[in-house]
Parts: sequence; structure tokens; C-alpha cells
Amino acid sequence: MPQICICSQFTSSPIDQFNKDPKAFPVATNGEMFPWHELRLPTVVIPLHYDLLIHPNLTSLDFVASEKIEVLVRDATQFIILHSKDLEILNASLQSEEDVRYKKPGENLTVLSYPAHQQIALLVPEKLRAHLRYSVAIDFQAKLADGFEGFYKSTYRTLGGETRTIAVTDFEPTEARMAFPCFDEPLFKANFSIKIRRESRHIALSNMPKVKTIELEGGLLEDHFETTVRMSTYLVAYIVCDFTSVSGTASSGVKVSIYASPDKWSQTHYALEASLKLLDFYENYFDIHYPLPKLDLVAIPDFASGAMENWGLITYRETSLLFDPKTSSTSDKLWVTKVIAHELAHQWFGNLVTMEWWNDIWLNEGFARYMELISLNITYPELQFDDSFSNTCFEVIKRDSLNSSHPISNEAKTATQIKEMFDAVSYNKGACILNMLKDFLSEETFRKGIIHYLKKFTYRNAKNDDLWHSLSNNCLEGDSTSGGFCYSDSRKTSNTLAFLRENVELKEMMATWTLQKGIPLVVVKREGRSLRLQQERFLSGVFKEDPEWGTLQERWYLWHIPVTYSTSSSQAIHRHILKLKTDTVDLSEKTDWVKFNVDSNGYYIVHYEGQGWDELITLLNQNHTLLRPKDRLGLIHDAFQLVSAGRLTLDKALDLTRYLQHETSIPALLKGLEYLELFYRMVERRNISDVTENLKHYLLQYFKPVIDTQSWLDEGSVWDRMLRSTVLKLACYLNHAPCIQKATELFSQWMESSGKLNIPTDVLTIVYSVGAQTTAGWNYLLEQYELSLSGAEKNKILYALSTSKHQEKLMKLIELGMEGKVIKTQDLATLLFTTARNPKGQQLAWNFVKENWTHLLKKFELGSFPIRMIISGTTSHFSSKDELQEIGFQVKVFPSFQNGKSG
Ligand code: BES
Ligand code: ZN
Repeated sequence: MPQICICSQFTSSPIDQFNKDPKAFPVATNGEMFPWHELRLPTVVIPLHYDLLIHPNLTSLDFVASEKIEVLVRDATQFIILHSKDLEILNASLQSEEDVRYKKPGENLTVLSYPAHQQIALLVPEKLRAHLRYSVAIDFQAKLADGFEGFYKSTYRTLGGETRTIAVTDFEPTEARMAFPCFDEPLFKANFSIKIRRESRHIALSNMPKVKTIELEGGLLEDHFETTVRMSTYLVAYIVCDFTSVSGTASSGVKVSIYASPDKWSQTHYALEASLKLLDFYENYFDIHYPLPKLDLVAIPDFASGAMENWGLITYRETSLLFDPKTSSTSDKLWVTKVIAHELAHQWFGNLVTMEWWNDIWLNEGFARYMELISLNITYPELQFDDSFSNTCFEVIKRDSLNSSHPISNEAKTATQIKEMFDAVSYNKGACILNMLKDFLSEETFRKGIIHYLKKFTYRNAKNDDLWHSLSNNCLEGDSTSGGFCYSDSRKTSNTLAFLRENVELKEMMATWTLQKGIPLVVVKREGRSLRLQQERFLSGVFKEDPEWGTLQERWYLWHIPVTYSTSSSQAIHRHILKLKTDTVDLSEKTDWVKFNVDSNGYYIVHYEGQGWDELITLLNQNHTLLRPKDRLGLIHDAFQLVSAGRLTLDKALDLTRYLQHETSIPALLKGLEYLELFYRMVERRNISDVTENLKHYLLQYFKPVIDTQSWLDEGSVWDRMLRSTVLKLACYLNHAPCIQKATELFSQWMESSGKLNIPTDVLTIVYSVGAQTTAGWNYLLEQYELSLSGAEKNKILYALSTSKHQEKLMKLIELGMEGKVIKTQDLATLLFTTARNPKGQQLAWNFVKENWTHLLKKFELGSFPIRMIISGTTSHFSSKDELQEIGFQVKVFPSFQNGKSG
């Protein structure tokens, strides 16, 4: 194991704030002065090791626990500040190293509590001395939490109809403090030795393998787990449950197990295959062994987000881990594989090397999202994930082109602000700029750089600049260096190297992408053999003629954009770095057209002035295959984005989609269809019936050849199957008679078979949705929902139920969701989201959210995924001034509504 200096990363100077200005300090719950006023903990005392003993009682639904924290005092101090939330502290005492050695009992400490900052202060009678180690012992207890955070309870129903309870943790970002008093910041890494008491009908799992089990008086068992590696508190995890598992061994000898409730055991096999494959991949790709002896992946019945990367004990929502061949579709398989790939990537990016503070959460999440792409391309090429990655970027561009976006690295202080950092900007934009950088540096150089970064910061924390530094100084043996950069033989002649010779400062370049918000628009104008390039900030919904346009532009500095382009005269990828506001590039030959952002690898939108768009439209109509599939996809995306910014007419964008009848690349075809459907839904919501009808006929007519050639079988490639699901869903939504007929037929057969008939998984949602339009069908689906053991199927049924045109049925669903029995609370946000997407449900869902805002906040934390999903789901389709006013009113009544915003 490498030598680690435990204190090197704490740089703040020791100050005894308390003595400086006592008036500046807050008041503790007992009325005394609390000796610390900042949200961040002082760095004078740092944890080295935690001994934790936890005893949850799954009948009384509470836990008692004790801990011993070994700390190092860096400067003399009179108090120790720790995080603690909703814990009852029973006793706290302190021993010096000497006391421990001579077994002297600990001295009791006074404990003060300051709940506003979720902190406690341990006051010591005598100043702790610098450079000495001490041991702090705390006894505490609490109820198992009701929600989805800290140490909480989760329940599931067995096949026999019995309800069983398990206890599980979920800590990221700031909830370890709900389970044990601790230094709950990512920089305070320590080792953890965990012991758990349980009844014999249960098992206990934690980050590390179990070393032994001791039988206690009265029949209780106590499991002792191996001490962890050095890690942050948010990655600690433990579970007490009665789950069963399947296991396998990775090439490196690591034991991988998938756990689920006993009746779901048969759905665990795909996850085992995928996690073994992906673990092998990552160990190889990073050239770093997964450092623990085992890795467990557990499907938790109640889970707030999709999954959580706890080191060695990854927890998942059931639908993110389990795969049921009878009811899971292609896109379900892609999702499960992606989530496994994502959480496994975190075992390196996040767990081994952690961001110093939450402002840089993108170093965890952006990388994990980026690695989904890299790992799936190699381990599951048949999933053709490479062709979906552009959508990852398109998704965040929608958000990032609004003024309300934020920089990738953004200040975050309070727990709510920290939670809000887990958004599309950190995840998707993070991944997209990494992908752009990889394209610029070459995959090989980029990989070397990130390996360098991971090795250098192993068991430690890092910040943005550390990454840029590793990426530009990543020389490994055998490489040559030039101008401070490193390259291997194969890249000696590459364009990239030429750029590097121009002395591109990586750090300077990447600062323009991470420290300022937004996305650039590159405006291209061809003037003879020259290309005039110009960059500005791209803003959706703000037109150049609008008065605020100027101010929104001025405040923004420039991006260093590594642009790429191809032309009619050469298929080569040309490169240039656009650092200035305007620049000119000379073409070597005369060309008919030029296309920027090759393969959509860059994070920028392109607008072609003059004849640029017309030339490209002509090209698409004449021979679209002269452009690469991802370039066609990018053109469709950019054109519609430019419409939203008033830079291109809708006519022109629609003109561009005309070639789609001949489009052979499914991602491009689906992108065109998506925008056309969006347009249709906007018109439909406005209740302009004649326009709606005309558009419906146009769409059905236009896509008739594609619709009519679809089979109702699970056959073909992943994209063939995605196309089938999308096209048939739209056709049935538009009431296309043959579609409705086929779906109705399958639904009746399914009902007659008492739900036993296997319907092809890719059309299952469509069949259920058509079936849900009759009262009998809807009621039957709700019955099946209660009985089904497949999360994948339950999601499909719930979606179908929420497409009903009857408001009383939609209301019943929402009530069931609020009750949390038949429809679990974890699924309420998605339910409100899909109900709001239903034209007959949008007003109902919005009214419900307005009227029940305080109730919803009791179920989900402000700033959390579910709350943001509820807000965006019920408001993002708003497009009129009146609707905007309604949101304004809601914010006035409930300021928290603004805080929960999603973009
Ligand atoms: N680290 C996150 C879990 C998380 C999310 C913690 C939000 C705190 C706040 C985990 O790695 C994650 O990103 N999960 C995703 C699933 C994944 C495929 C992106 C999620 O929960 O949606
Ligand atoms: Zn993640």
C-alpha cells in the first residue's frame, strides 16, 4: 500500500475562533454558546479511524450504537466539532493515547448541539495537545429514518403476501451524520471497523467482508467486518436484511455478489454477468486493482435515486439492478448495464480518488457518466451505446442554454445546495466536456492522463487543477516529451500534437468550460476559400432582438473551443482552436459545403450563415450518407436549438427533416421524430384542434413506411428495437387504427391468460397503455401491479395507468402514491411526472403539487432528485405567460419551490 500523509491536504491555519469573538457564535440547544459558527468543520482535529458498533431492531424500528473515533489533534484545542443529525447522544468520553495504553477509563465530555448546522461540540476539560492522538467514545441511539436517507427502513412484500422490513443506509452527500456522529466531509478520510448486531433470521452486509460472527447472550449475533481502506464517510454502508444472493469471481479474484429479496433471486443473473465483465474491464483499463476483496450489489425495495456507489456495497433501486427476461425491455437492459457501469466506475472515480469538496462533484459524477460510454463500448458493443452518447449532451444543452444554469464547478455550502449539485450539469456536461477533451487529446493520451490522476491521488482527494495537471503531465515510461507535454510514438504526426506545440494550456482551456456556465454558439460563414468563425453564448428563448440579449452576452468571457470540421472535398477531420471572439480559417480547396463539430464530439452548437444551411439541406436530400450518421444527428439537433433561439426559422428546420424518409441511421431518425413529436404535443396542449389534426395526419403519413414495417416482436438490433418501441408508441398515441387494433388484441389475450401470456417486452408499455383506456383494462392493470414481482413490469403498468383520460383514475393513482402502500413513495415523483405529460393530467398534477407542496416536502428532501423531478415534470411543458405567472405565484407562497428548481 502506498505511503500516505494524512494531514497534507488540510491547509487552513489553526485558529481558536472561540477566543477571538465569542459574540459571533451561535447558541446551542441548551442555551450555552456553541463554539463553532461555520458550516464546514474546523481542521484542527482530524479522524483517523472509526470503530462502529450498530444494533438495529427491525421490530421496534430503532437502533442503538456506539463508536470510538481515533483522532489526530493538529493544533491545541478545547473542543471537537462533529456532524450529527437527529441522533440522541447518550454519552461521550475521551481517552488520550496513554489512557488507552494503560486502560484508564475515559473522561466524560460535555456535549453541545447546534441542529441548524447539524453539528455537535464535545468540550474537553483540558486542552487537547497538538500532534497527539486521542480516542473519542460516543454512545447514541435513534429511530430508523422514515425517508430514504441515513439509516432507514425499507419494506417489501413476499409472494405469500407477507410484509418484511429491512434496514439500509444511504449517505451521500451529507447523511452519514444521521447514522453516526462523524466528520462528514469528503476530505476527512479514515478507516472504518464495523460491527453489526442482528437476529439469526437476518444477515448483515457492510463495505468489507465479514471476519467473524460472535453469538451473544440471548441469541443475538454480532458480525465483525474487516477494516476498510481509507475512505470518506459518505461511502460507508451497512444493511440488515434477509436477502439471498448469486456470486461469481472476477479475473482478479474479487468475489462479486448480487443480492435481492428472496422472491427476486431469479432476476439477479444478468447483473452478475454484467458486473463481473465490467469489473474486469475497469481493473484493466485503469491498470489499478479494485482494492477490496469483495463487491456486493444489492437491490433495495425503497430507494430515492437510481443507485449509490458505497465502496464494496453498492445499493440500487430494484429497477436499476434486476433484469426479468419476461418483462424487461431493451431499454431496461441498457439502463441496468449503464447503472452498473456507472457505479463500478465510481469505485475508482469517487471512492479511490474523491473530490475535495462538493463544488467539484463533477469529478465523481462527470467521470462516472463518461466511463459508462467507454466501458460499454468495449464490454457491450451490441448495446450500441456509442450512438446514444450524443443524447447525453443534448439533454444537458437544454438546461445549459438557459440563464439559470450554473458552472460545472459551483460553490455549494448548505446541505440543500450540495444536493442540488447532483444535476445534469455535473453529470452530463461533465461527461461531454471530458469526451470533447478525449477527442482533442486522443483516447490514448487521455487514458494515460486519467490513470496518472488516479494513481497520484489514490486514497486522497483532488480538485479540478489536479486533473488538468495530470492530463498534461502524464508521461509514462517510453514516452517522449515536448514543450512540457507528453506523447507516445503513434501520435507524433497527429494534429493534436501540432496544437500542443502551439502551447495550448490545458488548464486555461478547461477553465473556460468548467468555471463559466453555458454553451457556446459557433457561427460559421464561408467567404470564398475562407471560413469566418465567431463565438457567442448560446441562449435558448432569448432572441438577438431582445433587449436583454446584449447584457447576457457581455458578462461572458470566451471559450477555448477545439473545433473540428469536414468539407465536401475531404473526409479528413480538420482541427482548429477557436480562442478569440472571431477568427478565420483558410480552406485548402474550394468546397460545396462544410460541416462543423465532426461526430458531435464538441460541446458547442453551430450556426451556418449565408448559404450554409441550404447547402447542407441540399446535401442531405441528394445523398445524406456523405455525412457521418452522428453529423446528421447533430445537424437535426442544432437546427431545432437554433429555432428556439430565433436564429433559424422553424420552416428551415422542418425543411431539414424532409430527408428523414430516407434516413438509415436510427438515432438520427429518432431525433427528427422527437422534435416533430414535441412540436405536435405543444400544439395539442394548446387545444388548437384543426392544427393538431392536420399535424397528426402529416406525421402518420410521413412516417407510414416506418410504422407499417414494424413487427410486434422482440427482434433485431438494439436500435431496431428502440425504433419499434418509439414508433409504435407514437402511432398508437396518434390513434393509428392498425396500431390500436394490434395492441388491443394482445391486451385481450393477456387478460384472458390471467396475465400469463408473454408479450414482446419492447411493445409491452404500448399494449398496456392501450389496454388502460377502458375501465376494465385499467382496473385489471392495477390488480396486476400489486401482484407483479418485476419492477420493470410495474414501471410499465404504472406508466400505462397514468395515460388514462379519466381524471378520477389519475387522481386515484396520485392518492395511492401519496399513501405509499400499493404505489411506493419512491415511485411518486415518476408518477407525477408522467401524469403531467398526459394532456388530461397536466392541470391535475400541477394543482396537486401546488396544494400538497408541504406534504411532498415531508416525503422528500429539498434539492433531492425526486423533488426536482416533480417540479420539472409538472412545469417544464409550460409555454405561456399565464403559466409563468403561476410559477411566480407559487414561489411567492412557498419560497422553497424556487430552491427545489431543476433548471
Ligand atoms: N452518487 C450517485 C448517487 C447520488 C445521487 C447521491 C444524488 C446523492 C445525490 C450515484 O452514483 C448516481 O449517480 N446514481 C444515478 C444513477 C446513475 C446511472 C447515474 C442516480 O441515482 O440516478
Ligand atoms: Zn454517480
